[in-house]
Amino acid sequence: MDILGHEPMGIVEEVGSEAKNIKAGDRVVLPSNISCGHCFMCEHDLQSQCETTQVREQGKGAALFGYTKLCGQVAGGQAEYLRVPQAQCGPIKVPEGPADDRFLYLSDVIPTAWQAVKYADTPKGGTLAVYGLGPIGQFSVRVAKQLGVERVIGIDLVPERLELARRIGAETVEWTGDGDPALEIMDLTDGRGADSVIDAVGTESHGAPVQQLMQTVASRSPSAIATKLIEKVGRDRTSALHTAISTVRRGGTLSIIGVYGGAATPMPMMELFDKQIQIRMGQANPKSWVDEIMPLLTDDSDPLGTESFATHRVPLEDAPGAYEMFQKKQDGAIKVVLEP
Ligand SMILES: NC(=O)c1ccc[n+]([C@@H]2O[C@H](COP(=O)([O-])OP(=O)(O)OC[C@H]3O[C@@H](n4cnc5c(N)ncnc54)[C@H](O)[C@@H]3O)[C@@H](O)[C@H]2O)c1
Ligand SMILES: [Zn+2]
Repeated sequence: MDILGHEPMGIVEEVGSEAKNIKAGDRVVLPSNISCGHCFMCEHDLQSQCETTQVREQGKGAALFGYTKLCGQVAGGQAEYLRVPQAQCGPIKVPEGPADDRFLYLSDVIPTAWQAVKYADTPKGGTLAVYGLGPIGQFSVRVAKQLGVERVIGIDLVPERLELARRIGAETVEWTGDGDPALEIMDLTDGRGADSVIDAVGTESHGAPVQQLMQTVASRSPSAIATKLIEKVGRDRTSALHTAISTVRRGGTLSIIGVYGGAATPMPMMELFDKQIQIRMGQANPKSWVDEIMPLLTDDSDPLGTESFATHRVPLEDAPGAYEMFQKKQDGAIKVVLEP
């Protein structure tokens, strides 16, 4: 059995002898990945590659809360109680006062978006295109605005997600399925492409029907088969990534924060090489960004809009229905907060 949930926060009940940074009663947020804080990778700000928790038998990086065997099968946070391995390092104590929502996204969404924007490295006065306006894309737009990126263009298929991004100052391009968003982005950028592009879509990309079929198959299969399928079908799920590559300008930067799982995913190497594209990617390293993010969360004006971000709040026992709603993007669902 797997217990899901990799974005937890809560109150400390009990601590082990090595966890000297927290005590019972503290309100803490846990980074989605589990890291030790003292290995070579942790010392290089790469907690997502922690050498103490790496899932070596799967050839993967640091273990994550609430995933299958591929990521260490550590019981996750969609539960009333959670055992926290490596607690001397992970938990981030948050101040008394503001509501939980102010800090909840510090576990994953905001540091991920922060890393995406940092890796995108948009030059002064430049344009950043963000593919995918789910939670990661939405916060990428917000963080980019906070960090002074002048022009942000958001791309998605879902009207309310486009609308939300517009409200925080992004220009938007709607991906309709018949049109080509790439052409619109070229038109918006003097035919040159965006200086930087973030792919915040990942393998859930809408594109060829084959992909959707395989996805349905994978989600219905027992977990062992699903794991194998996910590794194999990656090649069919790169439609957003390919569009992102085609709309980054020559000499620009591509920041891939959406997760890709294909073991042999073909990439347009000629285009990437000829356009001289820089690419950065990977799982987020939340702890590396906490000190930079925290002032925005404790600011009374809530500049990242954390408190109004959740579209739904449901008790734990209603989680199955909430998952379905989220997967089908029904009822304007963007972010669902589960309350045990
Ligand atoms: N690297 C990390 O550490 C990290 C952390 C968290 C999430 N992620 C990944 O980031 C990605 C986004 O996460 P999320 O929670 O925002 O997911 P999400 O599924 O809510 O958002 C993805 C969005 O992309 C849109 N989309 C689909 N195909 C598209 C296309 N071809 N062009 C433009 N938009 C398209 C969807 O409509 C959706 O709004 C996922 O792959 C997730 O696994 C990575
Ligand atoms: Zn480590």
